Amino acid sequence: QARLPAGHVLRPLARTDNQLRANTSFLKTLEVLTTVGTIADADFQKRFTYLQQHNDQYFTIVIEDMNGPVGSPSEGSLVAPGRGKIVAAGTVLVERKFIHELGLVGHIEDIAVSADQQGKKLGLRIIETLKAIGEQVGCYKVILDCSEKNVPFYVKCGFERKGVEMGWYV
Ligand code: ACO
Repeated sequence: QARLPAGHVLRPLARTDNQLRANTSFLKTLEVLTTVGTIADADFQKRFTYLQQHNDQYFTIVIEDMNGPVGSPSEGSLVAPGRGKIVAAGTVLVERKFIHELGLVGHIEDIAVSADQQGKKLGLRIIETLKAIGEQVGCYKVILDCSEKNVPFYVKCGFERKGVEMGWYV
């Protein structure tokens, strides 16, 4: 936490993170990546429960910004009083292999920093933490796919170019 900007807290995703300030929840943060769509809270809860049941496989972390006014009445019923807003998020997914003597591989996915908080090293802190989680659970490597324009960011985070990403979209 010491290396985060003042008032920022890095922690695991919580069930209530869909209910922080209406326009600054976890799902809103992910919109810097792509379309998130409309997700009913009940469906968010179901997905969260799945991740919780597989908490040796899915590690989703967020950075919450506690600065500024929280829980003002104008923000409506989706406000959890005393909470801040989610400004960054990321996941490491642990794959269980047969090769490398039942090796574990960490896959980093869905790294997102709110547009107005980019450039404050929040992305770097998210990646450092996901790498540390991967290492602690015993992964022999942690990998990710990204666009060409994000290569310099991941190089700064200690990654190097390997292979080629391929995709097939249904
Ligand atoms: N080009 C060059 N350098 C960059 C770039 C870039 N596009 N982005 C960051 N950096 C550098 C920074 O200047 C900084 O360098 P420094 O230590 O010399 O000052 C270092 O990388 C760390 O940057 P952060 O401040 O931690 O970056 P930020 O918090 O803005 O997060 C991120 C970077 C995640 C790419 C953010 O801009 C973002 O959310 N972008 C939109 C969504 C996105 O593209 N996500 C990644 C998808 S790939 C995936 O999810 C596996």
